[in-house]
Amino acid sequence: MQRSSLKSKIVKEELLSIKKVWRNTYKNSYEEGLHFLLHGLKDKNFLLESVLTQIKNKVPIQYILKQWFFYDGEYFLNRHVLIPRPETEVLVDYVINNFSHAKKILDLGTGSGCIAIEISKKLPASVIIGVDESEDALKVAKKNNKQTKNPVNFKASNWFSNIDETFDLIVSNPPYVSENERLDQSLKHEPRSALISKEDGLSDLKEIITQAYGYLQDSGVLMLEHGIGQEVPLKQKMLNNSYKKIELIKDINGINRFIVGFK
Ligand SMILES: C[S@@+](CC[C@H](N)C(=O)[O-])C[C@H]1O[C@@H](n2cnc3c(N)ncnc32)[C@H](O)[C@@H]1O
Repeated sequence: MQRSSLKSKIVKEELLSIKKVWRNTYKNSYEEGLHFLLHGLKDKNFLLESVLTQIKNKVPIQYILKQWFFYDGEYFLNRHVLIPRPETEVLVDYVINNFSHAKKILDLGTGSGCIAIEISKKLPASVIIGVDESEDALKVAKKNNKQTKNPVNFKASNWFSNIDETFDLIVSNPPYVSENERLDQSLKHEPRSALISKEDGLSDLKEIITQAYGYLQDSGVLMLEHGIGQEVPLKQKMLNNSYKKIELIKDINGINRFIVGFK
C-alpha cells in the first residue's frame, strides 16, 4: 500500500516537471504534443532528466517515446530513421487497393520498415523486399518486422546495387528535400540522409526512375512519394525513360505527393 502511494507520488511529480518544462519550451503553443507525450510515457520506464533535456532541445516526441503509429502498426523508432508521416499512409492504401495482385514488391529506402511491413500485413501472399543503405536503419526495420506474419526480407543496398531480380511493384519514399531549404527545428533531429537530396531534392527520385525501369517486370509499376511541385520534372523524367502511363496522386492535404509510372 505504502509502496504504491509512493510510486504515484513520484509519477505525479514527474508529470508536473514535464508539464512545466514543456510549457517553458513551447510557450503553450503545442499542447497536443504534451498530451501525446504524457499519454505515451504513462506505461513506460523513462529517465526524467533525459526526457526533460530532450524537451528543452525540442526533440520530436516520437523520438522521446522511441515509438510512433503508422497505418495499422506501431513502430519502434530511433534517430537513425525518419519518423513515419501520415502522408505516406496514402501510398500504402493505394498499393493495397490497386496492386493486391503484386507477387513481388520492393521498397527502396525502407527506414523503419513502415511501408514494407504494412503492405506485407495486408498482402500476405506477396514477397516483399525492403532495402536501405543505412545498416542502422535496417536494424530498426528488422526489429519492427516481428509484427507481421509475412516478414519482409530486409537487406542493405544503395538503391539497386544489391538487387538482382525483377518486381511487379517498386515503391519508395526517398529523400526529396532540397539542400537549400531551411529545415524546421523538428526536422533537424531526423537523419539528413533520409531527408536531403541534391538537385533541388530531385537527384534520388530521378536516379530511382532511371534505374527502376530495368528492375520492373513487363507491366510492372513504380510508385514514388515526392515533394511539393516536383511532379512536373518527375513526369518528364518518366516520359524520357519510356514509362507508358503516368498517374499523379494527392496526399491527405490535397497536394500532389505521389507519382506512379507504368512500364
Ligand atoms: C524519407 S526516408 C523514408 C523512410 C521510410 N520508407 C518512410 O517512409 O518512413 C528515406 C530513406 O532512404 C534511405 N536512403 C537514402 N539514400 C539511399 C540510397 N542511396 N540507397 C538506399 N537507401 C537510401 C535513407 O536511409 C532513409 O531511410
